[in-house]
Amino acid sequence: MCGIVGYIGSRDATPFLLEGLRALEYRGYDSAGLFVSGSGAQKRAGKVSVLEESIPEGFQGNAGIAHTRWATHGAPTENNAHPHTDDTETVWLVHNGIIENYREIREMFETEGIVFRSETDTETLAQLIGRKYRDTPILEQAVADALKEVRGAYGIAVMAINEPEKIVVARHGSPLLIGIGDDGYYVASDATPLLTHTRNVIYLDDGELAVLTTDSYKVTSLTHALLNKEVQNIDWDVESVQKKGYEHFMLKEIMEVPEVIENSLRGRIDLEAMSIHLGGLRDVEERLKNIERIIITGCGSAYYAGLTGELLIEELVGIPVETEIASELRYRRFTADPEKTILVAVSQSGETADTLEAVREARKHGMLALGIVNAVGSSIARETDAGVYNHAGPEIGVASTKAFVSQLTVFVLLAIYLKQLRDGTGTHNEVIRELTRLPDYARRILSASENISEIAAAHAGMRDALFVGRKFQYPIAYEGALKLKEVSYVHAEAYGAGEMKHGPLALIDSEFPTIALMPLDSVYEKTLSNVEEIRARSGKVIVITTEGSEPAWTTECITIPQTHEALLPILTTLPLQLFAYYAALQRGLPIDMPRNLAKSVTVE
Ligand code: M6R
Repeated sequence: MCGIVGYIGSRDATPFLLEGLRALEYRGYDSAGLFVSGSGAQKRAGKVSVLEESIPEGFQGNAGIAHTRWATHGAPTENNAHPHTDDTETVWLVHNGIIENYREIREMFETEGIVFRSETDTETLAQLIGRKYRDTPILEQAVADALKEVRGAYGIAVMAINEPEKIVVARHGSPLLIGIGDDGYYVASDATPLLTHTRNVIYLDDGELAVLTTDSYKVTSLTHALLNKEVQNIDWDVESVQKKGYEHFMLKEIMEVPEVIENSLRGRIDLEAMSIHLGGLRDVEERLKNIERIIITGCGSAYYAGLTGELLIEELVGIPVETEIASELRYRRFTADPEKTILVAVSQSGETADTLEAVREARKHGMLALGIVNAVGSSIARETDAGVYNHAGPEIGVASTKAFVSQLTVFVLLAIYLKQLRDGTGTHNEVIRELTRLPDYARRILSASENISEIAAAHAGMRDALFVGRKFQYPIAYEGALKLKEVSYVHAEAYGAGEMKHGPLALIDSEFPTIALMPLDSVYEKTLSNVEEIRARSGKVIVITTEGSEPAWTTECITIPQTHEALLPILTTLPLQLFAYYAALQRGLPIDMPRNLAKSVTVE
């Protein structure tokens, strides 16, 4: 949520700051701003392009910090945009996260007669750092002193006009990394803007602060103890964060699904031994053999992937599983036996605040926490005891598509792996064989996207939509509804198809289309009967089913290849993602950056 970039070195900072903001815009896009040494600050409400147009000739300097905002405190106005400064305009700050005790700090300053320029929590931190800096004019000291007085979450980058050749960054709860380049040092809240400049990065941990100058960097604790941080290499390629000729990242990322499934499976299936290898779980294998219960958590799409994982593990392993949204789980009392229960946290970004906090709570309770995470080196990846990376590559579109598919794929692997730990190999050979065919099945579905586009276009004017499915298709119905809401702003509901006659059938009329997920699985006949009930009330039904199982009455049908029931959710997801995409396209909406949303939700 929100994006930070910074640069200090031998070249002009402004071009990188603007380029970095564009790369990070998917994280927040309601206002943007920058501060460049020697040139000052510039900010604007609206997109980065608006800021860019406002930059005057000669706005340059060899150090600077910048921010693209997703509003938390205060509307998306120019005054509320970052950077923020203190009353003497000495210290300049960009901030991701939330300062929880900002009201008290603000009141303290206001009683002294200081007038605030914005409604943000960030400005109080800028004032506080400014005050400390007045007493001790060493920026890192002032930042550390101020941070000791705030509660909440932050990833910050700070500059002072008296020390133009210095950037101080600090982190607590909001990701921040430092890129080590040939021509200077880079700062970013995620790796995306760094890829074209350097692959060598240092991930800051909570409670750490770094001082960057044109030719040096050091990382310390807030109490100034020097830390020896590992420099890590990012192996994402640059192309993966570009649109490669597609109109939108969302479409490009859906079209990448076949390779994403291949990447999620790569090196993890031994077809000779019919076994699954998950290297990231090797160290906790003994403990996993004896678990009796699993709790899965995540938010949004990751939560729906978790619900599907629950069904997969129950069906393929026989261990009881419950899935809870992370924002609820973190405040629930953990009653499970920590010796026999594990937590599985699912997150594409690995930075979702609620999911991270649920991990911390579970670990406090003594539970083993595993991560199913896409972003390598992210907070959840580092704070879990072990885990499985998705290897979906960077996902830029706010709507999760390829990452969701990779989460489902990893859950299938995890389920077979857990079964294998208990009962040896050989129990799910058919699922393993079919897993390796999934990329081709996905290619077949994507190559028929024209049909999906036509169906979506025919319904683009819809006001509401309903998604129904049963068993494995039940969580996928929820995911389909979420996708449609998110990118097309259509009111969409999801139900277990069997629930319709317990109330929601009352909504059905000829204007309310239903998307029925009914591949040939163990509940096909049951779902079909439920769908007939919708049709009997004049409801229009768009059918998603397996080849050869199309009901005779269907006029709008999307087919997928037949496979093992446990893998069908991966395939039914694709038409839903395309349906949402094409509906939003028809409606002329900003698909990659839907209103009010941000890619990575790093605040509670
Ligand atoms: O990065 P995470 O997977 O933890 O994100 C969780 C949700 O915020 C995310 O899935 C969100 O619901 C997506 N925008 C859905 O498309």
